[in-house]
Amino acid sequence: MTKLAPSILSADFGQLAADVKEIEEGGAHLIHVDVMDGHFVPNISFGAAVMKSLNGRTRLPYDVHLMIEDPDQYLEDFVTPQTEYITVHQEACVHLHRTLQHIHAAGAKAGVSINPGTPLVMLEEVLEEADLILIMSVNPGFGGQKMIPAALRKITELKRIREERGLKYQIEIDGGVKADNIRQVKDAGADIIVAGSAVFGAEDIAGRVRELLEKVAD
Ligand code: DX5
Ligand code: ZN
Repeated sequence: MTKLAPSILSADFGQLAADVKEIEEGGAHLIHVDVMDGHFVPNISFGAAVMKSLNGRTRLPYDVHLMIEDPDQYLEDFVTPQTEYITVHQEACVHLHRTLQHIHAAGAKAGVSINPGTPLVMLEEVLEEADLILIMSVNPGFGGQKMIPAALRKITELKRIREERGLKYQIEIDGGVKADNIRQVKDAGADIIVAGSAVFGAEDIAGRVRELLEKVAD
């Protein structure tokens, strides 16, 4: 079953808990939490305190996407009973394998992400340690951008490698997913699909979640 992880980057922060209730009502599976530090990416979003304000207000697990330098320094802040994945960027980690071990030791599943300009081969040595591979289909920093279609080839290749080597990671795509391309993304091999502006830009947020999920139903 394909999972949908709406990104709260595009939510109305003034009524975050209410927006999250809507995605829950629509049947979303995870809350994608986009953390940006203004260094690794050219934008600042929010930190762990904002994410934790949702604790107990939703039963959806957190899918934390750290677009920050030196993520090891902040990992523990994002570990809560509701945290499922913590994902770091390959480009931000000098000791990537150690950082993934650090996430496991802190009590979360470990994800690793690559930007559109980074080839898949950069993940070669951590494919066994990772629970999740997050392929960026836009250059990170902002919601509402157009998908870079070359990301789909990486997704399909990751699926092939997983089968060939009997690995276990989930494959996630993030950036520019809309109602008119979500089926293509699923068919390329994504297990978890992030959507920000497509979900929270809708008049009826719960309705849009349902619409997107219907398009990826088997
Ligand atoms: C980009 C973020 C994405 C983004 C997705 O830096 O990591 O999660 O918010 O937003 P849309 O779906 O609007 O491209
Ligand atoms: Zn993201």
